[in-house]
Amino acid sequence: MMIELALNILDLVENSIKAKASFIEISLDESTIDDILALKIMDNGQGMDNDFARSIKSPFVTTRTTRRVGLGIPFIRQITEMCEGEFNIASEKGKGTKLEAVMKNSHIDRPPIGDIAGAIHSLIVLNPDIDFKFTYKKDNNNYSIDSREWKEVLGEVPINSLEVQKLLKKDINEGLKNLGR
Ligand SMILES: Nc1ncnc2c1ncn2[C@@H]1O[C@H](COP(=O)(O)OP(=O)(O)O)[C@@H](O)[C@H]1O
Ligand SMILES: [Mg+2]
Repeated sequence: MMIELALNILDLVENSIKAKASFIEISLDESTIDDILALKIMDNGQGMDNDFARSIKSPFVTTRTTRRVGLGIPFIRQITEMCEGEFNIASEKGKGTKLEAVMKNSHIDRPPIGDIAGAIHSLIVLNPDIDFKFTYKKDNNNYSIDSREWKEVLGEVPINSLEVQKLLKKDINEGLKNLGR
């Protein structure tokens, strides 16, 4: 199975969007020294009650009645297990959800990160009413983009206008390129 993490991230963020989050924070933290890749997704959506959040750590739990092959939580759980890592999800009803997946970066089963620039760009322009903060940290360097800051500068100009879409793409692509992605 060679599914890119970027696609899995899109799927996990879809959960946050369905939970009516207005702010979603995504971070990827790559450490050469510790040989770790850590993914965090935090949202301020409706959350889950304790029992459900606990049960979700076991495979194939869903509130949906029709099931496609899930790219969601079961996938990231399986990946972290395969990659000698750790998966955790903490949630509070009415407050939000925090998901954390840590992997051994050099592990042979660690999926490629894939088109994370494209994924973040799509999330921001396709969900103009939701705010996103994305941080990519690689050892001592990092790139960060916060749609709230962009919106503040843009004023009345919509974040999904064509001109802004291009600027966002440039910012994200260049930011990640500088980190060697
Ligand atoms: N960020 C989140 N906020 C609230 N509920 C969530 C969140 N992430 C996952 N869930 C709950 O966990 C379930 C399982 O998620 P997932 O594995 O992505 O499968 P699916 O989205 O197909 O149901 C979801 O149906 C939802 O009820
Ligand atoms: Mg899902």
